[in-house]
Amino acid sequence: MPPRDKSTNSRLTKPPRRAPMIEVRHSRIHGFGVFALRRIRKGTTVMEYLGDRISHAEADARYADKADDDNHTFLFTVDKRTVIDGGVGGNEARYINHGCDPNCESALADRRVYIEAIRTIQKGEELSYDYQIQRDPDDAADVDEVFGCRCGAAACRGSMLEPRKPTRTKKAKKAKKVKNAKKRTKATRRRSV
Ligand SMILES: C[S@@+](CC[C@H](N)C(=O)[O-])C[C@H]1O[C@@H](n2cnc3c(N)ncnc32)[C@H](O)[C@@H]1O
Ligand SMILES: [Zn+2]
Repeated sequence: MPPRDKSTNSRLTKPPRRAPMIEVRHSRIHGFGVFALRRIRKGTTVMEYLGDRISHAEADARYADKADDDNHTFLFTVDKRTVIDGGVGGNEARYINHGCDPNCESALADRRVYIEAIRTIQKGEELSYDYQIQRDPDDAADVDEVFGCRCGAAACRGSMLEPRKPTRTKKAKKAKKVKNAKKRTKATRRRSV
């Protein structure tokens, strides 16, 4: 009998499928979160942050009705042209909560956003990254309360917003204002890499 052609047997030719790395379930931090189903090594790209790729103007228009004290957002800034709306056509990445002492970080490559492990994550641990939500010069006085953090880390800074920058000189402030005027279109909050 001639030898069987193994290339037609998909069980033998397909690479072995690895068990899924993560699952989405209820989180003690907020709503749903993303948890490791197995050990994830430092440096692993866990997943891409997917969703509708839209302009800042479109993102503002889409969520124009949002209340000022509603801190929930699936928006992620790629650059001054593009925002990813994880709420439309997004994947599990949109459920990763913010952490002030995170085990992941967001990274940009070819204008796409990836979530990468910055330390080895044990099975069962919740994944998190620092949202670094942008501050605005006209932020309300209570903005850090509205965006209050409940990550529970010993080093929790109490806010999902980016840390306050040290006070700048008058000259630097003026230069920054001009820059912001060019790029700001946002009325709704986004995270950024
Ligand atoms: C991309 S969603 C993350 C998934 C969210 N837990 C859910 O179930 O939809 C981002 C929102 O989750 C909430 N959130 C995430 N991390 C948080 C934290 N450390 N403390 C408080 N709220 C958090 C905020 O409302 C934030 O805008
Ligand atoms: Zn925190």
